[in-house]
Amino acid sequence: MEFTNYKNFWNHKALDALSAMSAVDGSTDEDTLRLTGRFSARQAREALGLGRTDRSFEIGCGVGRIGRELLDDVAHWSGLDISENMLGVARDRLGDDPRVSLHALHGPRLEMLADASMDKGYCVAVFIHMDKEDFALYLREVARVLRPGGLFYFDHWNLAHPVGWRRYEMEMAQALATPPGERKDVARNQFTVPEEARVFCERAGLEVVECLGESAWLQVVARKPGGGSSLAAEQARVAASRPAWTYGPAWTHYFDLIVAAEREGRAPHDLADELVAADGNDLVVSMFRRWIIGNWRRRESWGPVPEALARDPGALDAR
Ligand SMILES: C[S@@+](CC[C@H](N)C(=O)[O-])C[C@H]1O[C@@H](n2cnc3c(N)ncnc32)[C@H](O)[C@@H]1O
Repeated sequence: MEFTNYKNFWNHKALDALSAMSAVDGSTDEDTLRLTGRFSARQAREALGLGRTDRSFEIGCGVGRIGRELLDDVAHWSGLDISENMLGVARDRLGDDPRVSLHALHGPRLEMLADASMDKGYCVAVFIHMDKEDFALYLREVARVLRPGGLFYFDHWNLAHPVGWRRYEMEMAQALATPPGERKDVARNQFTVPEEARVFCERAGLEVVECLGESAWLQVVARKPGGGSSLAAEQARVAASRPAWTYGPAWTHYFDLIVAAEREGRAPHDLADELVAADGNDLVVSMFRRWIIGNWRRRESWGPVPEALARDPGALDAR
């Protein structure tokens, strides 16, 4: 099926709660989604230094995977998404919480948020699915809606990291298999490099507090100039909290094993063995275990889920 715009693509991905969940991050059940949500929420919380008085927003909130886990950390959370169907699932998951507002987007404009009305915002796994012009336009809107000194955290695929490049080669293979003249998928994965992301921030009127490129994900904390705090103070804060918001070597290694298995068209038995041997009380390990078990069950060509993996999916309250 060919999709002409982001909205119809993502509405189609979110025809029901399970497919919406799977489209946001490959989770196949609510428990896995809660675990991955906690992981991503910790990253956003630590990168932004979220606090109980913060008015916050998320661009491309999907089913509220991250927002749900952040509600107790902020005063208010606005979830914005191009897909009304995603927002419908988010509404069901978040309930009628007075700290939440959900808004449908119709393009790279945040007209529902007033100038300088927000303390902090973030965007995870969304800019990777759009053309660069839209990325730039969203950043310009971020600069408009943040108060002076306000912060924004986002990620993007990082072409400059070897694992990011290997992930990009999957896109190249897909492009090679596309019949000549056929339009590329409107929401396909797109990539950047640290220098380009810096230019996009600066041209939008944002200062780069930190731009981390140590994994397949580029992670950026940007700041609207002005306000009470200084750029140097924010840089010191994010440097101190860095271990809590970077992807880290274990995450990057497990992800690399998944990419290798996908590229070679085989089941990730090597990843399964490593996860079985690793500490199931660790959040990254437990998250990957549950994620891979769910996906293994869906992939007939992978054969049965390895018994040792299925027997011990890892702790739900992993730290
Ligand atoms: C991969 S999901 C990530 C969802 C969420 N950020 C998370 O991490 O769970 C991408 C989300 O971005 C939304 N999206 C895609 N293109 C968008 C656009 N141009 N503007 C706003 N949202 C968009 C999709 O509807 C989807 O909910």
